Amino acid sequence: MELNLKGQKVAVFGAARGIGKAIAEGFLHEGCVVHGFDLDAGDGPPSVVNMHAGDAGSYDQVQAFARSLGAVDHVVHSIGVGSGKFGFPFWNLAPEDWRRVVDVNLMTAVHAAHAFALNFVEKKGGSLLFLASVAGQIGSQTDPPYSAAKAGLINFVHCAAKDFAPHGVRVNALSPGMVRTDLNESVWRAGQTSLPAEMRQDYAVWAEEKIRKVSPLGRWQTPSEYAAMAVFLASEHAANITGQTINIDGGQVMHS
Ligand SMILES: NC(=O)c1ccc[n+]([C@@H]2O[C@H](COP(=O)([O-])OP(=O)(O)OC[C@H]3O[C@@H](n4cnc5c(N)ncnc54)[C@H](O)[C@@H]3O)[C@@H](O)[C@H]2O)c1
Repeated sequence: MELNLKGQKVAVFGAARGIGKAIAEGFLHEGCVVHGFDLDAGDGPPSVVNMHAGDAGSYDQVQAFARSLGAVDHVVHSIGVGSGKFGFPFWNLAPEDWRRVVDVNLMTAVHAAHAFALNFVEKKGGSLLFLASVAGQIGSQTDPPYSAAKAGLINFVHCAAKDFAPHGVRVNALSPGMVRTDLNESVWRAGQTSLPAEMRQDYAVWAEEKIRKVSPLGRWQTPSEYAAMAVFLASEHAANITGQTINIDGGQVMHS
């Protein structure tokens, strides 16, 4: 399938590692001009022409990044962080544990959308894509602030999709379940600290058990699977898709 994305300008938040890095590479493969933004710009895909170092928690820094690019065709937000604590039951966490998790998972996405909004309205086209999570759809007990922030993000995608629709701009989300990345490993690490030594598992065993339990297809998802969907959603083939949360999760979440 020809996606016809060649020469389009794409901003990818969280492009240095994990799913965001694979998505940046996916757009590069389609001949796009990709600008990555990450805390650690040095880690980005080698072929990304422009990696910008910055903290998306700072609206000033995100605005400066947006100003430096001018109009873009697509924005992808692939930033996420867990609390680093085992959140079950939720009172294991203190209310102050929530703030950073909500700020990083929700507010950095809001910053990205705000900073590029008027450019998209003026351009009358393009797309935004946010990485949500199955946790935002099922009230995952593993990390309540993460779940709640992702649910907020999915809701914001609905609001933004409605606001942008009259301007021909589309907004969607992808929901991963289990992808082998630093973030995924940090969830395992947080869980282990709450267990007695004899119950601790290594990462591979924990992941295998979890995947078997939660995913009908019973396998890891891979970063390249999100990249494939991201470039498709950016293309004209997806011209009628907006406000959707697409679960690439091995069937973990099924809506009737
Ligand atoms: N890996 C999974 O199993 C999984 C599951 C569900 C949802 N997700 C979601 O997918 C997205 C990508 O996750 P991942 O697994 O690739 O994570 P990751 O930790 O591998 O990559 C996240 C990237 O975001 C960057 N980042 C973090 N905070 C930032 C900030 N304030 N400013 C700029 N950059 C920042 C990090 O430096 C890193 O490069 C996230 O939204 C995550 O919540 C992942």
